Amino acid sequence: MKYFRKLIGEKCYLSPVSMDDVEKYTEWLNDMELGQFLTHSSWVLDMDKEREALRQLMNNSSIFAIVEKDTNKVIGNCGLHEASNVHRHAELGIFIGEKTFWNQGIGLEATNLLLDFAFNVLNLHNVTLEVYSYNKRAIKCYEKIGFKKVGQRREYMFMAGKYHDMLIYDMLATEFTSPFIKKMFNYSTSEEAGRSKITIV
Ligand SMILES: CC(C)(COP(=O)(O)OP(=O)(O)OC[C@H]1O[C@@H](n2cnc3c(N)ncnc32)[C@H](O)[C@@H]1OP(=O)(O)O)[C@@H](O)C(=O)NCCC(=O)NCCS
Repeated sequence: MKYFRKLIGEKCYLSPVSMDDVEKYTEWLNDMELGQFLTHSSWVLDMDKEREALRQLMNNSSIFAIVEKDTNKVIGNCGLHEASNVHRHAELGIFIGEKTFWNQGIGLEATNLLLDFAFNVLNLHNVTLEVYSYNKRAIKCYEKIGFKKVGQRREYMFMAGKYHDMLIYDMLATEFTSPFIKKMFNYSTSEEAGRSKITIV
């Protein structure tokens, strides 16, 4: 599989999704240990449906494969959905499908890289996300990144015989420190000073 290093961290990088990974995605999304944390666990996806779902996501959202940096192994996916250029907001989603990679700080790094893309490339202002109240690992990860809890939908999801709340978190561009993109656009002070002297006649 070929991946491309678009947003690069210490442990992982974000690459365009490879359609050759559709079997892997189908495997991940049928795994209920993962699915319990995702909104579409009720879907029954075969490879054809997953291929179609991936195509639609690639057309309508900014989605990325999460690739482990040392091995170039794809381990998950993250993306920005329902982006509005008018209001400058979007919804963030992420999963690490390879469960042996949970709890190693990769989710935190991948989310930070995705936020960097959201705020400093797409120029969004607000990125929001929803998470089940029982998803303690994800909640810890989002709070460490700096997401703020802004709401709670009570008894919103019915799973395994019980209602669960859905928590809503968001982050503003002004609250985010760029780990990657700003280094790419690191203008020197003199260049910035030079630009500010340009006058239009
Ligand atoms: C959520 C997810 C992306 C986070 O990525 P990750 O790489 O596993 O998370 P990180 O290692 O960056 O951070 C997890 C933190 O939660 C902590 N944690 C793990 N289990 C926990 C629990 N039961 N209660 C509280 N904290 C927990 C970890 O110790 C870690 O904190 P630390 O860095 O201070 O030690 C990943 O676990 C995943 O894909 N989960 C399944 C799908 C999912 O939940 N997606 C999100 C849907 S909203």
